[in-house]
Amino acid sequence: MALLETLLLAFWLFIPAYVANPLAVVWGGGRPMDLGLKWQDGRRVLGDGKTWRGFVGGGVSAVAVGALQWPSSALWSEPLTLDALGAWMGPVAALAFGALLGDVLGSFVKRRMGMEKGSRAPVLDQYDFVLGAFLVAAVLFPGWVVATYVQGEALWGLILILAVTPLLHRAVNIVGYRMGRKEVPW
Ligand code: CTP
Ligand code: MG
Repeated sequence: MALLETLLLAFWLFIPAYVANPLAVVWGGGRPMDLGLKWQDGRRVLGDGKTWRGFVGGGVSAVAVGALQWPSSALWSEPLTLDALGAWMGPVAALAFGALLGDVLGSFVKRRMGMEKGSRAPVLDQYDFVLGAFLVAAVLFPGWVVATYVQGEALWGLILILAVTPLLHRAVNIVGYRMGRKEVPW
């Protein structure tokens, strides 16, 4: 496959991870995931910015986005069979929920560092979800991750994702802030 196709595919397949947290912002509210509990350091385990509604709503809708992308696999001559749909949805769900878990872990780390909800943590804020998505996908679908993001030319896809993520993150958060869905534009 030509390098450009490899790059486009790597980005296209990562979309469920990209949309999961913005969709969690749209759904968010209600009972916090940590149920208001505090860690030994006296600070909240995660804080009010991580809610069950955001996690489940964001995850399910990001998986739905991935399902809508599925017919595109016919472009690289995958058969559009039910078996193929099943195989497609596994990595989709891993990326979507992995991204949300990464964001939750990011908040956990921020709270342990004594940082308030909504405070700015460069690198962590931008890459926590990427790490979560790749970790969960690599544990559940190692062969898929290696073939899609590691082996040979596919590594350029991973590099592309690492390069464009801070830009996308910034753009999406400015939109969320202007829409009044986020308290801060990061
Ligand atoms: N959100 C949610 N559940 C999630 C993730 C996000 O409800 N699992 C919603 C919350 O309303 C949250 C908003 O999306 O306030 C913005 O998310 P994020 O930037 O991740 O949280 P912050 O409020 O900035 O908190 P933190 O410092 O913990 O990142
Ligand atoms: Mg934040």
